[in-house]
Amino acid sequence: MNVIGISSDHGGFDLKTDIVLLLNELGHEVNDMGPENSKSVDYPDYGVSVAQAVISKNVFRGIVICGTGIGMSIVVNRFSGIRGALCSDLYTAKLCREHNDSNILIMGGRVIGHGLAKEIVKVWLSTPFEGGRHQKRIDKITHLEKLKKI
Ligand code: RB5
Repeated sequence: MNVIGISSDHGGFDLKTDIVLLLNELGHEVNDMGPENSKSVDYPDYGVSVAQAVISKNVFRGIVICGTGIGMSIVVNRFSGIRGALCSDLYTAKLCREHNDSNILIMGGRVIGHGLAKEIVKVWLSTPFEGGRHQKRIDKITHLEKLKKI
């Protein structure tokens, strides 16, 4: 099974703990990049680890969690090749895989309940990318990244 990288800040720590348990239950190998407790930390320090691990293919995909999900969204989406999707519903979790080939799932630990978050993770992990016209659009993003236009 492919390794999933995960990190949070203090605002996402409790949810991260639950999601790690879920991933283990589902049989995934997990690379927990911290933090190890709920003491206050800065989300950029933890978002960057997962983004770099996804880019370098040290992990298959990543999950990052902060209080709202916004800070982590801003951080991971600054990296070329990262398609981070902030999800708080199942429809978005499905479509960000089918249409956007999202490779990092972002959630807000202070925004959604743990039950919904676990369902989002299951949908996000099990939904394949559709390719086709959606691949063409991602190729345009990749092209712009190479030109350093974004
Ligand atoms: C931490 O207090 C909070 O600002 C952080 O978890 C996140 O919500 C930032 O976007």
